[in-house]
Amino acid sequence: MNIVEVDGLVKQFGMLTAVDEISFDIKKGEIFGFLGPNGAGKSTTVNMLTCQLRKSSGNARVCGIDIKNAKEIREKIGVVPQELSLNDLLTASQNLYLYGSLYNVPRNVIKEKSDELLDAMGLLKRKDDLVKNYSGGMKQRLNVILALLHKPDVLFMDEPTTGMDPQARRMIWDFIKRINAEGMTIFLTTHYMEEADYLCNRIAIIDEGKIQAIDTPRNLKRKLKGQDILEIQIEFDERLIEDVESVDGVTKALYDKGMLKLYIDDRDKLLLDIATKLSNRPIKSISSVEPTLEDVFISITGKRLRD
Ligand SMILES: Nc1ncnc2c1ncn2[C@@H]1O[C@H](COP(=O)(O)OP(=O)(O)OP(=O)(O)O)[C@@H](O)[C@H]1O
Ligand SMILES: [Mg+2]
Repeated sequence: MNIVEVDGLVKQFGMLTAVDEISFDIKKGEIFGFLGPNGAGKSTTVNMLTCQLRKSSGNARVCGIDIKNAKEIREKIGVVPQELSLNDLLTASQNLYLYGSLYNVPRNVIKEKSDELLDAMGLLKRKDDLVKNYSGGMKQRLNVILALLHKPDVLFMDEPTTGMDPQARRMIWDFIKRINAEGMTIFLTTHYMEEADYLCNRIAIIDEGKIQAIDTPRNLKRKLKGQDILEIQIEFDERLIEDVESVDGVTKALYDKGMLKLYIDDRDKLLLDIATKLSNRPIKSISSVEPTLEDVFISITGKRLRD
């Protein structure tokens, strides 16, 4: 059963097409991810599906309900917005009561559910502290909890771990895995490829408002095969990229932190040509590397996820 069904959805802001005829489905129980750089159209998509922004055209249903019916959908979904939706002058508990009462969650249920969620996120001891005294990562964790109080069927999370330190990020990841194992369907956006890779059953790669590929992380990486990647430790010079890219079969060359990274058609055939081309430059090492989702992204869009 599909919890989310999107068909040719479009959002235009004046002349700008922020979301450009995207189509995808999310199955019940899935963790589905949107992986894309700044400005790709991730938040715009989330905002349309969660009835916070009107679509320009196309269709979408969430929990079987057309997104025109905002009131009905809001009861069934949880939303973790990219911008925090907390009241800084209240405690965590007070934020939870306020939020729960907006959704008509009974007080005893709020109490029980709040403590369970606060505990899972490592915030139980701090529940009576003012949110303004929380660290950034603590606020982000509380932001996630708020979205779950009314026991939604599907959770939308817009970049839930941006800017977090690795430990706090790991806590959110474990939490997401746990609620998913208990049956929650999750749609999350991210520009961290490790996050998409670790959490998502399927990923849509989105760039400039368009979905460029949808598949499991494994299949996305496997499709890159026949596209080998070489890492060569070498000094940079002005003609380096131009020289290696002139070798037939080298599709792209990037240089970063002392390392030349080459995307090539066939390692066995090309290694000699590349070595010959670089023969007047000292090479410290050559190794072949397994593709990451970042490599998939580069191969599809010609760009990096982050600059
Ligand atoms: N209210 C708005 N009015 C005009 N343009 C907008 C508006 N909201 C978003 N945009 C534009 O739409 C495009 C997509 O923006 P969106 O916020 O969906 O990107 P994103 O993928 O969420 O990026 P980020 O990773 O930075 O959060 C951008 O070019 C953005 O400037
Ligand atoms: Mg965004």
